[in-house]
Amino acid sequence: MNVVSAVAPARQALAALPRPLGFVPTMGALHAGHLQLVQAAREQCASVAASVFVNPTQFGPLEDFERYPRDYEGDRRKLESCGVDLLFAPDVQAMYPPGFSTTVDAGEVGTRYEGAIRPTHFRGVTTVVSKLLNIVRPDVLFLGQKDAQQTAVLRKLVRDLDFSARVQIVPTVREADGLALSSRNVYLSPEQRAAAPSLHRALEAMLADLREGKDARSARDRAWRLLDPIAVWDYLDLVDMNTFGPLQRLKTPAFVIGAARFGSTRLLDNLLVEE
Ligand code: PAJ
Repeated sequence: MNVVSAVAPARQALAALPRPLGFVPTMGALHAGHLQLVQAAREQCASVAASVFVNPTQFGPLEDFERYPRDYEGDRRKLESCGVDLLFAPDVQAMYPPGFSTTVDAGEVGTRYEGAIRPTHFRGVTTVVSKLLNIVRPDVLFLGQKDAQQTAVLRKLVRDLDFSARVQIVPTVREADGLALSSRNVYLSPEQRAAAPSLHRALEAMLADLREGKDARSARDRAWRLLDPIAVWDYLDLVDMNTFGPLQRLKTPAFVIGAARFGSTRLLDNLLVEE
């Protein structure tokens, strides 16, 4: 595996890789969810590039950028053993040199839910992913369904700004008890970890009610109570898959989305409803 940390050599090395080229952007601290994206890229593409970059612009001033889990050596080993051809691992200076000022804004799809709670988050994501797409120039961009609103924002980015990559969404990888794998799960205390699968169970209960014909409001009222009492909801809703606008009734394709705080750790989860 070729490891590159500067933009110009990355471009040069990437130009030599066989096509189609799949690309898996990450912030590192890799787990089996990330590696599932690499696996999908390996299956569908002739070469695979991944990036590890903890992107400061997608963290708010009071968020966990400084303490976000980092394990560069472990990440490098995992990516190499999964058959990644090129790892792009820039530092903050390489991505945001002094004087950097241009940003990309996703518009309305990035203003709701995560965007309402973290007002600058999606601008950071769309900006860094625009840069990464320009550097890597992949044929296929692999994203996890785990971050449902991010998939909607980035599919729109690719369409609106004419990036040539196709976006491929990979289903969420979960622990046996239903908890979605996340780099932030390491923050959970044993008590919070035991309570965390209640988020997924609440989403499943809401979806079951929606499928029986209940409207979103009454389905939510029942599912709302299924979250473990040590946790606090940020939101629970039914939304259109593309616009992330709230839906009153099940109309596919849609996501049932939820976010809850377990102490200072926020967990997100969702279910995709295609039919
Ligand atoms: P990060 O949180 O490291 O996630 C990288 C990719 O892994 C994302 O596409 C995410 O949805 C996917 N992923 C995370 N957990 C997953 C799981 N349990 N199952 C399947 N896929 C999972 O998302 C980001 O980084 C950043 O915002 C990034 C796109 C890299 C831009 O900085």
